[in-house]
Amino acid sequence: MTNEPIPELGGYDEPSLDKAFAALEQQARSDAARLTGDEATEAYRLQWLGRKQGRLNDVSTRWLKAAPPEAKKSLGQRFNALKATVEQLLEQAAGGGPSDAALAAEAIDITLPGTRRLLGAEHPITRTMNEIVSVFAALGYSVGVGPEVETDFYNFESMNFPPGHPARDTQDTLVIANQDRRPLRDRLLLRTHTSPVQMRTMERQPPPVRIVIPGKVHRNDAQDATHSPIFHQVEGLCVDTNITFSDLKGTLDHAMKALFGSDVKTRFFPSFFPFTEPSADVQISCIFCGGKGCRKCKHSGWIELLGCGMVDPAVFAAVTEERRKIDPSDDAYNPEKITGFAFGMGVERIAMIQHGISDIGHFYSGDMRFLEQFP
Ligand code: PHE
Repeated sequence: MTNEPIPELGGYDEPSLDKAFAALEQQARSDAARLTGDEATEAYRLQWLGRKQGRLNDVSTRWLKAAPPEAKKSLGQRFNALKATVEQLLEQAAGGGPSDAALAAEAIDITLPGTRRLLGAEHPITRTMNEIVSVFAALGYSVGVGPEVETDFYNFESMNFPPGHPARDTQDTLVIANQDRRPLRDRLLLRTHTSPVQMRTMERQPPPVRIVIPGKVHRNDAQDATHSPIFHQVEGLCVDTNITFSDLKGTLDHAMKALFGSDVKTRFFPSFFPFTEPSADVQISCIFCGGKGCRKCKHSGWIELLGCGMVDPAVFAAVTEERRKIDPSDDAYNPEKITGFAFGMGVERIAMIQHGISDIGHFYSGDMRFLEQFP
């Protein structure tokens, strides 16, 4: 290390100052380059920056303080630059090798187990919905979707609920505000069922149609153990030549057996929907008591599960009217040539029966104690 004393200055002119400071910087750099370990670095710091014996302190007393006033500024700038260089060299030397203690503090024990992130799982509603869809996919059905914000035309009119028809009141519709200036047909609402996608599918696609439509629907229902203003349905539509009510019965009987077990029985009760004729409600034998009667089936032995029926010719007429706006000769949905059936089921209700869930609210609570039961 350099320990020769600070030399006399050759003069206060710029070239002399440059030369003198360049020599010092050179020493500082070559000393710093040879530093090894914490002790040497500390010695270097004392040697150059030490308050009393440091070389920079010497430079200050011998050169700066003795300088004539007109040279002070120029000297001062060079002094500050040299000091900054030494400090930087020190920082580099210190940063070059962290101490063993610092290393130990940062060390990771690679034999410790890692942080396990929880894996997500399908929500029970999604799961049941997919299960229903795959039962029909195996029968050759494809999957369709449609918008949740729907027009009056698709949700009601095309499904044979004419304006002012009392059946509209049964749907407890949530409507979008400030639509009064639009024609009724175009007014927006939250779809009350997945049936509008029947129309959306048929206006684009000629028979044969075999489609299931899983999706979210909305009704202005108060929440209780079995009702929620938002719930899910799976719609089904099959249109082709010679589709009969026995096809409907066979298809749904098979689907119920696939979902609830092969010993489940089905029965069809007369019902009413504007878009099917005849219409039926499908009941399955109670899966809790096997049909003997229990609290779950209100001692009837049967559980009502879904609505269905043969597509009403009025729906085919509405489809034809729409298709003729594009091709005036379209006759694909002539009810003399083709027939079809449709059905719609509530996903929550099916999931509740599958898992013995007594309150629909559990599905939407986000409570992990509930969700973790469906890993
Ligand atoms: N859309 C009816 C409902 O939501 C269910 C249904 C669908 C009935 C298809 C018959 C045919 O209640």
